[in-house]
Amino acid sequence: MAVRARSSELAKQLLSRHAAAGVAAAGSRSMASGHGLDPAQSSLQQQYIDKEEKYGAHNYHPLPVVLNRGEGIFMWDVDGKRYFDFLSGYSAVNQGHCHPKILEAMIEQSRKLTLTSRAFFNDALGEYEEYITRLLGYDKVLPMNTGVEGGETAVKLARRWGYDVKGVPKYQAKILFAADNFWGRTTSAISSSTDPDSYEGFGPFMPGFEVIPYNDLPALQAKLESDPNIVAFMVEPIQGEAGVVVPDDGYLKKAQELLHKHNALLIADEVQTGLCRTGKMLCSEWDGCKPDITVLGKALSGGTMPVSAVLANDEIMLTIGRGQHGSTYGGNPVAARVAVASLQVLVDEKCAESAARLGPIFRKELEDMGSPLIQKVRGRGLLNAIVIDPNAGVEAWDICLKLMREGLLTKPTHRNIIRLAPPLVISQEQLHEATGIIKKVFSSL
Ligand SMILES: Cc1ncc(COP(=O)(O)O)c(C=O)c1O
Repeated sequence: MAVRARSSELAKQLLSRHAAAGVAAAGSRSMASGHGLDPAQSSLQQQYIDKEEKYGAHNYHPLPVVLNRGEGIFMWDVDGKRYFDFLSGYSAVNQGHCHPKILEAMIEQSRKLTLTSRAFFNDALGEYEEYITRLLGYDKVLPMNTGVEGGETAVKLARRWGYDVKGVPKYQAKILFAADNFWGRTTSAISSSTDPDSYEGFGPFMPGFEVIPYNDLPALQAKLESDPNIVAFMVEPIQGEAGVVVPDDGYLKKAQELLHKHNALLIADEVQTGLCRTGKMLCSEWDGCKPDITVLGKALSGGTMPVSAVLANDEIMLTIGRGQHGSTYGGNPVAARVAVASLQVLVDEKCAESAARLGPIFRKELEDMGSPLIQKVRGRGLLNAIVIDPNAGVEAWDICLKLMREGLLTKPTHRNIIRLAPPLVISQEQLHEATGIIKKVFSSL
């Protein structure tokens, strides 16, 4: 009884802490704003928010808008108000919301067979594997579900390759990561994180991980020269959650040259940058680089379901043998059909070309606003961010609230960075109209 009383007292304390201080503990991904939950735009929306607050864990800090419909570049709230979506589910909805061809593939397959597990074969997986490996130029693919599972898989592959091919002594393999990386929320992913909101209070951490600064080739070289047990460097071609941090031209290619010189692998985490978002099918193409392992997720299903993939050539992929890795849902027939349809839409609708063309136009329009609040506009293709001057006295969160009221949705990362990443099916006119909203909000501040 005493234990029960104590734990309910603890629960009360935690709830009041969340209400008073907001959910800063949810971290930069969910916006460590220090605000409590903001009031909804209508009593109907407030009811939905209250329900989530009462029955759901408090691990996110959403903008106070309750959505129930999406089509193309737009979403609608439960009161029928329309919004430009400038987050695209953190770049999962590159093809636009509820793309009819992706939905058709999903529904048609769902009527026939949804899950076999990998205990048996199905007639969709092989077709998908052939399609994606031919499209992206790798020998093989390993299908998983979420992006973080893709990263976990890449880590396992690199370790296994390190022992079987490179000859690293048993369990001495090391993997390098870049400071400010983000690859998910599992205990492995947070073990490589430099963001205390991600890792603080969740240790002990995964051994064999080391962190070097991003966009710093001498640091990579020094590490490689000092440690023969390094098997791989896992890196985002542009750091998304860190605030759309674009490295110097050629960074990835030169990193790979250094890695190969020391018999180590380049793992590109293209979960956010991949699939046309930056103006190429894969962002690493900007550097003329073919990573040894590429991890994809998010837009591989056009925002319909969790589908991720790890791509590599045989020398690496076949180091993991039968029964040594897997997932109940990884490679299920619905995911396989959805992934093919999602990739086909990107190709057919020339999403890479569109992102490459519209990106510079968009960044120029934002720069031309000449707002004194804006320190920098940066990005590539349609993965962009506005960096707010930290001394401007206004937080990115408050700007996002104003944008929401004006009909444009996005989310800050850190206190002073606003991501701007619309679905890639946006037209130039629509982009111009959306920029008008951004202009209106900045000039009102
Ligand atoms: C670069 C990168 N890698 C991995 C992930 C993790 O993906 P998921 O949330 O599907 O696990 C994310 C998510 O934002 C990401 O941006």
